[in-house]
Amino acid sequence: MTWWQNSVVYQVYPRSFADSNGDGVGDIGGIRAHLDHIASLGADVIWLSPVYPSPQDDNGYDISDYQDIDPVFGTLAEFDLLLAEVHERGMKLVMDLVVNHTSDEHPWFVESRSSKDSPKREWYLWRPEPTNWQSVFSGSAWELDEATGEYYLHLFSRKQPDLNWENPALRQEIYRMMRWWLDRGVDGFRMDVINLISKGELVDGPPIPGTPYGDGSASFVNGPRVHEYLQEMHSEVFAGRPALLTVGEMPGVPLEEARLFTDPARREVDMVFQFEHVCLDQGPGGKFDTHPLRLTDLKKSLGRWQTGLADVGWNSLYWNNHDQPRVVSRFGDDSPEFRRDSATCLATLLHLHRGTPYVYQGEELGMANSPFASVSDFRDIESLNYYSFALGSGASPETVLKGLCAAGRDNARTPMQWSSEPHAGFSSVPPWIGVNPDYLEWNASAQYGDTWSVFSHYQRLIRLRRELPVVSLGDFTMLLPEDERVYAFERSLGDARLVVMCNVSGEAVGVSSAGALVLGNMPDPEDGVLRAWEARVHWAV
Ligand code: GLC
Repeated sequence: MTWWQNSVVYQVYPRSFADSNGDGVGDIGGIRAHLDHIASLGADVIWLSPVYPSPQDDNGYDISDYQDIDPVFGTLAEFDLLLAEVHERGMKLVMDLVVNHTSDEHPWFVESRSSKDSPKREWYLWRPEPTNWQSVFSGSAWELDEATGEYYLHLFSRKQPDLNWENPALRQEIYRMMRWWLDRGVDGFRMDVINLISKGELVDGPPIPGTPYGDGSASFVNGPRVHEYLQEMHSEVFAGRPALLTVGEMPGVPLEEARLFTDPARREVDMVFQFEHVCLDQGPGGKFDTHPLRLTDLKKSLGRWQTGLADVGWNSLYWNNHDQPRVVSRFGDDSPEFRRDSATCLATLLHLHRGTPYVYQGEELGMANSPFASVSDFRDIESLNYYSFALGSGASPETVLKGLCAAGRDNARTPMQWSSEPHAGFSSVPPWIGVNPDYLEWNASAQYGDTWSVFSHYQRLIRLRRELPVVSLGDFTMLLPEDERVYAFERSLGDARLVVMCNVSGEAVGVSSAGALVLGNMPDPEDGVLRAWEARVHWAV
């Protein structure tokens, strides 16, 4: 077994975690002040979203210097202190690696755009004519640069030009930078959109209805050389080091490809973030066109990944991250009656699967989507761009706002709710994005020590994984695949057999009896019945 196979990862989004210097933006000092929160939850690893120097066009996913810390977050010296304090608590720290693109203010791009003969011209993707591709953040994926009259590719914002991985000198420079962080003591990398780094032919894609653009994904999702690049990265950066954690974020990765990416024999990455289960509530209009989840769709999807990565590879398990709306609002029920119950039910469902669970800051408190009232409440470039493009193509502001409220990334980015103090104890001044007004009731202080709080339940789930090898390593068998309310499965390892039953609905249901109770999300369980949003783990009889 590798150490991360019974580990739980906690994601910190620094801007929104805790502000220590009173500028309304979270920072490294704030993380250091709250490390005991993460340690007491029981997490083994912290994944830190980007803290590098950045113009913050995409909140740090637009990096202008890979080997320093943005002053808004602190200094390298403070980072070293953070790393030491994480290690002192027996935890590990994984950095975000954003190397599909840089900021347009990175010196490489400044040099690249300066002339067609620049030695760094080839480090980015320049063309005399654009393709029809749409950017992930709306509009064209190409930007005309006046200086040389050519277009550069940016799959995300125009301030995030894509790097050209075909260039061997660029690749070596990236590997060198990664070794520099590992030498500093970090324990691995979460690799941003890493399955987009290899571009195939830059040709027009099929038209996207309702837009003047085309879908170029066939040219860059899991492109022709991506496995080769990851193998090269492995041998240049990771080989010969103690076991690190590498997780590739891979939008659009099919299961068959994920098996290749995570097969240990191939030496690419340890696990991937796949997106199938977080797309199940999307309609034909894309991510902002949401509909309620069908439980049988979720079972089909998660069940297929459990089986598909059983004999080879490994799953990462997540509901939330800084790009996803809050799960209690999305797949649970955040009304006062069921908020705690549905948050703990969904947590149980996920954490009893086989794989490495990821907890996103605030998820362990049952933090919910924010009641954004107008577009001026949003900060995220994806949401703001989408709003203006959708309105420009004739959509009504009400419809667009409804989509943003349901699926916008800012739902994940409202400040961490530490206490009922002003600004939720996040900052001494009004934060960069509004605090969810529910913080008076929903905050960390109110939950510590309360046996039935969401926080305490996450503690128990994390402890259970550490204590029972069947939770981390056991085989997975889906039960009741056609049931629209009960999500049930069995885990087995040798003689140990667990039955997990989750009522993913607001009404009680009858279930068959099982053996001794291992863990439940409510007091006083009754044999044969699961109350609304009740989740239980039993030994099998
Ligand atoms: C990833 C990040 C997201 C970012 C995008 C571009 O999907 O998770 O936050 O906007 O890549 O870097």
